[in-house]
Parts: sequence; structure tokens; C-alpha cells
Amino acid sequence: MNTRAIILAAGKSTRFKTKKSKLLYYICGRTMVLYPLKALETLNIPTTLVLGHQADDVWNEVQKGNVKDVDFVVQEQQLGTGHAVECTKNHWDKKNILILYGDMPLVNKDLFEQLHEEHERSKATITFLTTLVLDPKGYGRVIQEDSKYYIVEEKDCDSEQRQVNKINAGIYLIDREFLAEYIQKLPKSPVTGEVYFTELIRLACENGFKVHAVPVAFDDVRGVNNLQELWEVEQIKRSEFIKYWMANGVRFELAQSIHIDIDVKIGAGSFIGTGTHLLGDTEIGEECFVGAFSIIENARIGDGTVIHSHSVIQNSNIGTSVHVGPFARLRDNVAIGNDVTIGNFVEIKNSTIGDATKTKHLSYVGDATIGKKVNIGAGTIVCNYDGISKNKTIIEDNAFIGSNTTLIAPITIGKNAYTAGGSAINQDVPGECLAIGRAKQVNKEGYATKLRQGQECEELGRRNITLAPAEPSSPKLNFHGASKTGARHKESL
Ligand code: UD1
Ligand code: CA
Repeated sequence: MNTRAIILAAGKSTRFKTKKSKLLYYICGRTMVLYPLKALETLNIPTTLVLGHQADDVWNEVQKGNVKDVDFVVQEQQLGTGHAVECTKNHWDKKNILILYGDMPLVNKDLFEQLHEEHERSKATITFLTTLVLDPKGYGRVIQEDSKYYIVEEKDCDSEQRQVNKINAGIYLIDREFLAEYIQKLPKSPVTGEVYFTELIRLACENGFKVHAVPVAFDDVRGVNNLQELWEVEQIKRSEFIKYWMANGVRFELAQSIHIDIDVKIGAGSFIGTGTHLLGDTEIGEECFVGAFSIIENARIGDGTVIHSHSVIQNSNIGTSVHVGPFARLRDNVAIGNDVTIGNFVEIKNSTIGDATKTKHLSYVGDATIGKKVNIGAGTIVCNYDGISKNKTIIEDNAFIGSNTTLIAPITIGKNAYTAGGSAINQDVPGECLAIGRAKQVNKEGYATKLRQGQECEELGRRNITLAPAEPSSPKLNFHGASKTGARHKESL
């Protein structure tokens, strides 16, 4: 394409009213700054980023995104978009310079291709994108007189100009030689004192250069200047992804409530329930069911697996035909085999669970390696932490862990072994063995009856009630209970 792109991203994000630069905000799992960079990368257009406010943080983010062929220039003082472009002049190594702003995350490859085609076809010196909007507030208005254009910024508009609905999208393809000559001639705005890049359009027209305006869809070029616009743009992105997966055979229940990040993949025939969030590098297999209000982040879910509602799964791999939840939590490197059942109120952390193992109710499993066909009874707790270090638990194939067992790690439960319900197990259990680790039960005959009688006598005494025949003159019963006192108090009010 013989083009170098310049992305302006030095501004202070004043209208965001947040400390953090707007470029570092996530939109469907990708930071704003990476959107235009990734779109340009697909076209192999080398890019220079103009940084200023929070330059280090923004540059770190770009490096995390592994974008090819991007360098940066620092604009020390933010003196306006025209000044920002001028700061990059030593990088203008291609015939065309593509200028755009860092706060337009909906730009895409097709848009840049269209811009290049129009530029070639029209043989213009500047080709720039415009769009029609119902509410042009905040954008530069495009004013056309005969074949001449100029752009008036919102702050500089008179009342008539403010009504103009044609706005400057903020994407320009410019002949390098023209840019090099005229960038120095940009004036300062008399209103704000900034050097506006948009004045280049006026300079080109006034000096007889051809300027070509190309109308495009607003949704491809929306700018993000405040948190409301960030939300609007994210809505657009999110529904783009949902529509894409719908076209690929995924059923979404109450689709408008579901959030999907850009890198998520979902297999055909799967069902995604209301309010579910699929985040980061997540892959859901085919014919899966993800119940309402689940959060799945950086996880793989095998084909035919059912995640019941309100489950949270992070950084984990789950096999095929597994049942998880409702209200389960799997986190930090959990690897689950096939045909496993993880039931309600079960938390699993950093553990491997073999095929066909079951842990169906109210358990915690941490730092454990569990074999195949193991049964973990309700309320089992793996005590992996002794206050200083995390210790390993191994449960071999086919073991049966009785309900309410506490397994005090480090510990190994052998193949086919049993632990008796309610046991605290702190020694290894050899295979085929039954381990009982609890106090021996003693039944005390008649104890309950005596206890109850004792309690009854005590209660009568407390209420000052005499069961013996009362003397006619003395009061039969005295109530000193709080309720009686309370009632009297209420009556006297
Ligand atoms: C800009 C355009 C406006 C257009 C709109 C499209 C100008 C003067 N105005 O307005 O015509 O309709 O975008 O979204 O160009 N920046 C720097 N250095 C600076 C100033 C800004 O790098 O000194 C960067 C900002 O970080 C931002 C971009 O330039 O990414 C645009 O600046 P912004 O203040 O958002 O301009 P708008 O008012 O949106
Ligand atoms: Ca902007």
C-alpha cells in the first residue's frame, strides 16, 4: 500500500474524568489502543503511535498486544492534533501518510481499504472520511463550499455551523510531500490556542490541491471521548460478536444481557444463558450448555459439557460431557477430565481431576491430584494450607471419600481406599484400606430424657411458677417476662 499510519494517542482523556488514560480501557477484552493497531496490522501498514499522557503504560499495553511493525514518538506537550502529527515527521517514510486518532476502536480493515481505493481513484492530495449523524455534538463539522471543504471544531462553531450534521470522522490519507510542506503552516486556533490538524483540509483547498471526502457509516468511526461513548462502542462490538456466533450455530438466551470478549470461540449447537460473561481466551466446545449468570474466563470447555448457572470458571481446562455447578467455582489451573461431575457449592483450585470422578456438594479441593472414578462425599475439605505453605493431596483411582472428611495435606489416599464420613485424615491411607479418623461414638442410655426433665424444671423456676397448690390469698402466677412488661409499656403510651 506504500502507506505509513500515524495514530494520535497523546491526549489527556480529559472528558473521561478518570486518572487512567482512555486508551487503556477494555472494550470486549481488548484495550482501546490495540483496536486500530490490529486493524492496520492485518494490512501490513507500519504504524507510528504518538504518545504523551501515560506514555509508558500505553506503550507497555501495545507490547503486550504483540503488534508487528509499530514504533512511537513522544509528544511532550499536548498542543493539539496538528502539533502531534508534526512530531512524527521523521517517520514519514512512505508515499502516503494515513492519519487517525487512537480513540476510534471501531475502525476496521475494510474501511482502510476503501479509503485507499478512493484515494487512488480520485488522485486527491487528501482523502478523508466523513459521516452523517443525528447528533453531531463534539465532532468537527464538515462545511463544503463548491468543491472546497473546511472543518470547524465544535468549540469554534457559530450557531449555524453547529447545526451541520456532516462530521469529520478523523481519518485522512495524505500525500507525504504535501504534508511535509504544509504541516508547518497550520495556524493556532484563536479560541483554544491549539494547533488543529483539521486546518490542513482548509489549507489544501485554499492552495488548489484536490481534497476528496468519502462518506462512511458512523458506526465504523465513532470516537470515544467519555465513558458513555465507551459503553456505546462496547455495545456495538458485543453485538457484532454475538451475531457472528449466532450465524455459526450458537443459541443465546436473552442475548442483550450476554458479554463476549473478542478472542472467545464457541462451538456450534451450544447454548449460552442469560447474563453470562465469556471472557479472555475462552473456548466453549460444541453442544455445550452454559447456564445463566456464569462467568468463564481463559478456560476451555469440552464438547457436550454442561455448566449450570452461577458458576465461575477461570484459567482452567474442562473435558467433555462434564457437569459443573450450579454455584461452582474452578480457578487457577484446574484440569478436569471427561464425564466428571462437580456439583453445587464446590470450589476447586489448582487441581487435576480424573475421568468420571464426582464431587457433588459443598467441597473444597485445592492443590490436589485426583484419579479416575473417585467419589468425594459432601462437605469434604482438602486442607491444603498449613499457614505457611501449600501442600499436595493425591487421591488415587476409585477411592471413596466419605462425607465431611477433612484431608490434611500433604496426604495420599490409595487406590480403592475408603475414608469414613466425618474423619480428619492426616496420615496416608494405603490402597484398599478403610481409614476412620474420628472419636469413637458412645451412646448414653436415658440421658436425653433426664436432660429434658432437668430443662423443664429450670424453665419453671426461671418464670417463678409454682406447681404446688397455691394459698387462696396469694397471687397464683407472677409474670416478670419481657413481653408482659413490653405490653404494659405500650398500653401506657
Ligand atoms: C477530533 C477532530 C474532530 C473530529 C473528531 C473525530 C481535531 C482538532 N478534531 O476531535 O474534527 O470530528 O476528532 O473523532 O483534530 N491528541 C494528541 N495530541 C494532542 C491532542 C490530541 O495526540 O495534542 C490525540 C488524542 O489523544 C486523541 C486524538 O488526538 O486520541 C483526537 O483528540 P481529541 O481531543 O479526542 O479530538 P476530538 O475533540 O475528538
Ligand atoms: Ca476524540
